[in-house]
Amino acid sequence: MKKLLDLLTEEMGQAFAAAGYDAALGKVGISNRPDLCEFQCNGAMAGAKQYHKAPIMIANEVAAKLEGSKVFAEAAAVAPGFLNLKLDKEFLKDILETMAKEPKFGMEIAAKPKKIVIDYGGANVAKPLHVGHLRSAVIGESVKRINRYAGHEVIGDAHLGDWGLQMGLVIVGLKERYPDWVYFDESYTGDYPEVAPFTIAELEEIYPASSIRSKSDAEYKAKAMEATFKFQQGVRGYWALGEKIREVSIKDLKKNYTALNVEFELWNGESTIKDLIPEMVQYMKDGGYAYVSDGALVVDVKEETDTKEMPPCMILKSDGASLYNTTDLATIMDRVRNFDPDQIIYLTDKRQDLYFQQVFRCARKTKLVKPEVDLKWIGFGTVNGADGKPFKTRDGGVMRLEHLIRDTQEEMYRKIREGREMSEEEARKVANQVALAALIYGDLSNQASKDYIFDMEKFTSFEGDTGPYILYTIVRIKSILAKFAEQGGVVANAKLQAAQSDAEKALVMQLVQFNAMMEGAATELAPHRVCAYVYELANDFNRFYHETKILTEEDETKKAGWIALLELTKNVMLDCISVLGFEAPEKM
Ligand code: ARG
Repeated sequence: MKKLLDLLTEEMGQAFAAAGYDAALGKVGISNRPDLCEFQCNGAMAGAKQYHKAPIMIANEVAAKLEGSKVFAEAAAVAPGFLNLKLDKEFLKDILETMAKEPKFGMEIAAKPKKIVIDYGGANVAKPLHVGHLRSAVIGESVKRINRYAGHEVIGDAHLGDWGLQMGLVIVGLKERYPDWVYFDESYTGDYPEVAPFTIAELEEIYPASSIRSKSDAEYKAKAMEATFKFQQGVRGYWALGEKIREVSIKDLKKNYTALNVEFELWNGESTIKDLIPEMVQYMKDGGYAYVSDGALVVDVKEETDTKEMPPCMILKSDGASLYNTTDLATIMDRVRNFDPDQIIYLTDKRQDLYFQQVFRCARKTKLVKPEVDLKWIGFGTVNGADGKPFKTRDGGVMRLEHLIRDTQEEMYRKIREGREMSEEEARKVANQVALAALIYGDLSNQASKDYIFDMEKFTSFEGDTGPYILYTIVRIKSILAKFAEQGGVVANAKLQAAQSDAEKALVMQLVQFNAMMEGAATELAPHRVCAYVYELANDFNRFYHETKILTEEDETKKAGWIALLELTKNVMLDCISVLGFEAPEKM
């Protein structure tokens, strides 16, 4: 279905042409004076030079051609040459009808669907998720859902951090506690235990302790590095132990991500491509891309146009150990082989900007990817506390994501219980659902690259630009529709009508811009655009609702028109929140 602005521009272009001017001048945009008009066209201003004519004369001639237009109810030429436009209500009703009938409300579905791999979540084994992981998870999940909605095939990969020094630190930590385990007996050739001999709680205790110790105890650090190396080389016991660390971590991570409504198709890790590393390294050498510098194997990624320093991309350290870059490059090789993707999207915090520039340049230069493959990195800002510094617990520690979710659920529960008749069980269920919306919306409504302040009071409020406000609006519509049905009405039979009031027209105009918004959000990988839209839509609906008595309306045609409008509004809002990654309760 065509986008509203394109339809308006077409009509305006025809009027310019009919008046003897270039149709390309007829570009219509949103009004920057909403008090005067709904849309505007500045083409007469632009055409003045070309035609050596006063803009207002051109505007007048074009306006005359728009008399009787089925699109514009009003096209006024105003000094010095603007065309101020108001839309025809019947025209809007027709679009609304098409929109209600078409799948995805008329959004243009990709003619050639892309295959996209999205690498998000950012979790590392043996380390609990903290507040910073919220962003990678929810932005990534929403980008995934938006692109699926747009018709693309999207594969989400958790790409666990399970390769670097942290593996060695956990392994030596375990070795200190349990030196007799068969994993550490290098002459052992039998099978290793089926069940992991440790819990996630133990791993989460061992890792930080081991990490702290390695900073002051050089001998211990050397052991951890050796263990890392053995693990990376695939020494049997070390590898088997690594597998168990992964297994226990994944089980726990799944629980946490499920609580966030985040689901990965692949649970690969940095270590998944272990066997591909030698091949990738050889490929870089054979291609003449990689050379040895100070003992390390590197690929230059500088370009002539660089204004900032661009260090080479390191493929192997001087001791032959591989690093973060190594696994990322080998993973690209793996993804190309397995999926042949058109696009790979990565989510990490902003600080990895330079790193991803190096990796992408290296992958392109060495032709690990075809030139047309789009490598995209979304760098997100920090979640801050009220003091503008990274969000902390009350006693200054790092906030675990699990605790942040729990605290938000508690706060929401308190608010839901206040003045509502709801059983404890139902209140809990609703509170959890709304809390998730509060968290996700609070995050996504900010442009990803910006830092934001986590403000529990604001995020959980039922008013303002918040998740709970959006849900509250949806629930309000659901309840009106339910009452209509109780009174014997059939929602499915209700027919859309032309808007009766300005508030209703505003709601309609918002609705018909859904397709343009969603297409934009998909190409720009921008969930915040969906938030901004659904918020405006909720506001428009509430304004309309406050001045319209819907259920008590005696004119059945009018009433049915509103019911159909409500049904459409609700469905559009539901699709919006679904791509954002949360759901609406029946009541709240
Ligand atoms: N685990 C990494 C971190 O904690 C993020 C991984 C991002 N993905 C990637 N392919 N490098 O920063």
